[in-house]
Amino acid sequence: MCGIVGYTGRKTAAPIIVNGLKKLEYRGYDSFGIATLGSGIEVCKHAGRISDNARSALHLNGTTGIGHTRWATHGAPNDANAHPHTDCKNRVAIVHNGIIENYADLKRQLIARGHRFLSETDTEVIAHLIEESYTGSLLSAVQQAVPVLQGSFALLVISPEEQGIIAARNASPLVIGMGDGEYFAASDMTPVVEYTERTIFLEDGDIASLSPDKLVIYHGKEPVNRPVELVDWSVEDTKKGGFAHYMLKEIYEQPQAFYNAIRALDTENLPGCAQKPASVAIVACGSSYHAGLIFKYLLEETCGIPARIEFASEFKYFPPPVSCLVVGITQSGETADTLTALKRAKSHNCPTIAITNVLGSTVSRIADSTIFMRAGPEISVAATKSFVAQLGVLMQMINLLSGEQFTKVLAHAHRAIEEVLLQDLSCAVLTCKQARSIFYVGRGPFYPVALEGALKMKEISYIHAEGYAAGELKHGPFALLSSETPVIAICMPDDTYGVMVANIKEIKARGAPVIALGIEGDSELADIVDIFIPLKRTHRFVQVLTSLVVLQLLAYYTAVALDRDVDKPRNLAKSVTIE
Ligand code: AGP
Repeated sequence: MCGIVGYTGRKTAAPIIVNGLKKLEYRGYDSFGIATLGSGIEVCKHAGRISDNARSALHLNGTTGIGHTRWATHGAPNDANAHPHTDCKNRVAIVHNGIIENYADLKRQLIARGHRFLSETDTEVIAHLIEESYTGSLLSAVQQAVPVLQGSFALLVISPEEQGIIAARNASPLVIGMGDGEYFAASDMTPVVEYTERTIFLEDGDIASLSPDKLVIYHGKEPVNRPVELVDWSVEDTKKGGFAHYMLKEIYEQPQAFYNAIRALDTENLPGCAQKPASVAIVACGSSYHAGLIFKYLLEETCGIPARIEFASEFKYFPPPVSCLVVGITQSGETADTLTALKRAKSHNCPTIAITNVLGSTVSRIADSTIFMRAGPEISVAATKSFVAQLGVLMQMINLLSGEQFTKVLAHAHRAIEEVLLQDLSCAVLTCKQARSIFYVGRGPFYPVALEGALKMKEISYIHAEGYAAGELKHGPFALLSSETPVIAICMPDDTYGVMVANIKEIKARGAPVIALGIEGDSELADIVDIFIPLKRTHRFVQVLTSLVVLQLLAYYTAVALDRDVDKPRNLAKSVTIE
């Protein structure tokens, strides 16, 4: 995915766009570009990150402009492929988030008609298509070009012949911010909240015309009204606020995120289809999948409701779900695989629920009901507070389905999360930062905690890390154990304790150092492992949360010790809008 931002008003556009792109960098950061309406179209675009090169773009003139921060899909991340792209005559400049699936055909046809292409991107065809239909009205040119496009797009288009921006959306997010004598357009609210809380989320098929004093939205060619929504994210939410990284700030925001998330659901607003499901299927990717797997374990053991979970990308390879409730978990609300899985569930008449953090995101237009987890913006690529907020919503759902057995437990869980933030992990960090490979093991709901711990570690420290169900390690991975492969074991006082301790002894016997998360005062465990990380004895649900937070912190401090780019790990973007 990429990030786009546009501004039209009375202020100089370039600094506002630069600022906005920095906020959207989590969506992709291999190159960036800005075009403004100064003397003609003024363009500045480069490989690299806007945050390292902001100065190069600040000289652009004009009070209207568009910008882009890229996560390459078609064409290498270089200057030529960076957006904005222009047409042959420099009459239009465009930025695009999404994928044009029929671009190869369109490009062949356009070249045959004499157009010259300067990039390898799918996006450039749009500039040339608009050029062909531009006979004095940019709006009408975009309205003619858009139906030819197949795929997903959020587009911003400018022309020196008109003061303003044309924005179009199909299956990629686009938000309009409504200021006083100024309008903003962006991939999400983060660049906008600094200027206004009044936003409009465009629908698929909408084309909007923005000028400093006027906003008109068309659906195709017909003008339409879209509701104005007040955003409750604050500008402070989008800043580092004194922390070294967004990730650390977001880890520290988890007590509040959990507290808010459990309040996102109560008996009144639990969607009808979730009241007493006979069975549940969960679809999600990455960290959201791990949250879903924890949900599966806890739902089955506390409510006896059968649950299956699939990677959203694999959901289509199984027989269609039959009349079960399908829950899609996606913090961004834009992950293509999860959207496709939910559409498939709907096409088989399954009731669907989405759990997401982003108001107006695509998933909320697909699912029958949506639960917003209210974690506030998450800027770091690694999911932390959105993960804990997902667990908040899911644990609250279990609570409601179980006749509110866990209300007290959940109401106090944020305090336990707060306490664990100060855990001393220095010895564990020292061991991990020297490792070539790390295994994480757990049983029951602590198995997905292990998966999530490993994902965090590999994602931001670049150390190879694998999560395993503790019983599986001896079925192959044992061959990899050595003094250079620490094993992190989550060993809690439940009915898996005895077998976990036995597994840890087997691991130790193969020479691997063991770092164990256990309950304070557990000297039996502390005596057999190399590093013991004590956690308070609490309810099982809370232990899932606290052990998870320790593993997030371990990954964070290890990545910092290795001098990694924690908030923007290589090759990644925050959510993946391609299948
Ligand atoms: C986790 O740290 C990752 N950023 C990634 O695995 C993420 O959880 C996954 O891409 C799913 O994103 P979503 O929740 O926005 O759908």
